[in-house]
Amino acid sequence: MSNYKSLPDKNGFYGAYGGRLVPPVLEKALKEVEVAFNEIKKDASFQQEYKRLLQDFAGRPSPLYLAKNISADLGGAQIYFKREDLNHTGAHKINHCLGEALLAKRLGKKKMMAETGAGQHGVALATAAAVVGLECEIYMGSIDMAKQSDNVVKMKLLGAKVVAVNEGGSSLKEAVDSAFGVYMKEYEDTFFAIGSVVGPHPYPAMVAYFQSIIGQEVLEQSKEKFERLPDYLIACVGGGSNALGLFHDFLDEDEVKLIGVEPSGKGLDSGQHAATLTLGKPGAIHGMQTYVLQNADGSPSTVHSIASGLDYPGIGPFHAYLKDEKRVEYVSASDKEAIKAFSYTSKREGIIPALESSHALAYAYHLAPTLSPEEVIVINLSGRGDKDIDYALQEFPEIAFESGLK
Ligand SMILES: Cc1ncc(COP(=O)(O)O)c(C=O)c1O
Repeated sequence: MSNYKSLPDKNGFYGAYGGRLVPPVLEKALKEVEVAFNEIKKDASFQQEYKRLLQDFAGRPSPLYLAKNISADLGGAQIYFKREDLNHTGAHKINHCLGEALLAKRLGKKKMMAETGAGQHGVALATAAAVVGLECEIYMGSIDMAKQSDNVVKMKLLGAKVVAVNEGGSSLKEAVDSAFGVYMKEYEDTFFAIGSVVGPHPYPAMVAYFQSIIGQEVLEQSKEKFERLPDYLIACVGGGSNALGLFHDFLDEDEVKLIGVEPSGKGLDSGQHAATLTLGKPGAIHGMQTYVLQNADGSPSTVHSIASGLDYPGIGPFHAYLKDEKRVEYVSASDKEAIKAFSYTSKREGIIPALESSHALAYAYHLAPTLSPEEVIVINLSGRGDKDIDYALQEFPEIAFESGLK
């Protein structure tokens, strides 16, 4: 049996993936973060304050909810939702933002900065910075700003400065590039809070550590609700933080099948998708070695997904390793399949899911009828869909009001 939970190694590698591919000027800054991260794992007062904020501020534990209507409709496995959408700020991102804000404060930094795609990470970070008492600066692609204008207003209301990025595809990759460029100049006073399990060591390990609360709770809740482990855990995969948060504590439980769902956008052969593990190749991006969707010259491709938070040509290095090890199966769902799951879940369960999470739902709804009623699927409902309503109606008006999956 592999001991996945012992990864990464001391240099931040998950097999051939990960590492810290940064200019020498950032080595010192990232080493400082790594040392602090290793310290807080054993620091009782940090852990106590983190726990207090997760419970009393963010509202954890999030419920594990049996979706009775949909389970009955589909006639196969029992389907449970892990309700990360009920967290304060409406998604899983608050879990690691609170941890990173406390770490930044401990390091004596004045400001936190980050990139954001759907705006969920930006809102979560602005919220965490406000409660911990730090300045906050968020970089966001201008296309994403137009799609997620409510989140832009929220970030400003929470006291953050939002910087529009207009380069390239004006989305998540360009926002990361831009934010990193500024961080190189300002690292002494600033904490860079990456929004997923991506980037140079120690970020992939640190974000996974803070997000693993999701799977820890599912382990406990499974015992209470169905007195055994689930058969399947399913999560959408952008950079990979909600998926790794759910999977982490189950990695060594071989009987639990783990499935990550990538966005196949307008189709895997359309050139307009962000299915990095399905169609990418090993390469380097944003300070890490991982799978990358690349052009012929090796540069990262422009990618597409209806869900801004999945629109990224790289992937967390732990996922790259888990794919090669075949411990996690990576599949995909299209824009249309996600919109159908978005509409169907709203109507049948009274829950409007984020378009990101709707990719995981779409795949699970296709799998459930092939399983028996004794089997249990847990889907990570990574966020709420209020942010997506206008965009979904504008792009797919006919589907967004439909009630079925066909
Ligand atoms: C609700 C939601 N789910 C999922 C994601 C994808 O990120 P990750 O793969 O890191 O969980 C995002 C990113 O913004 C998001 O907002």
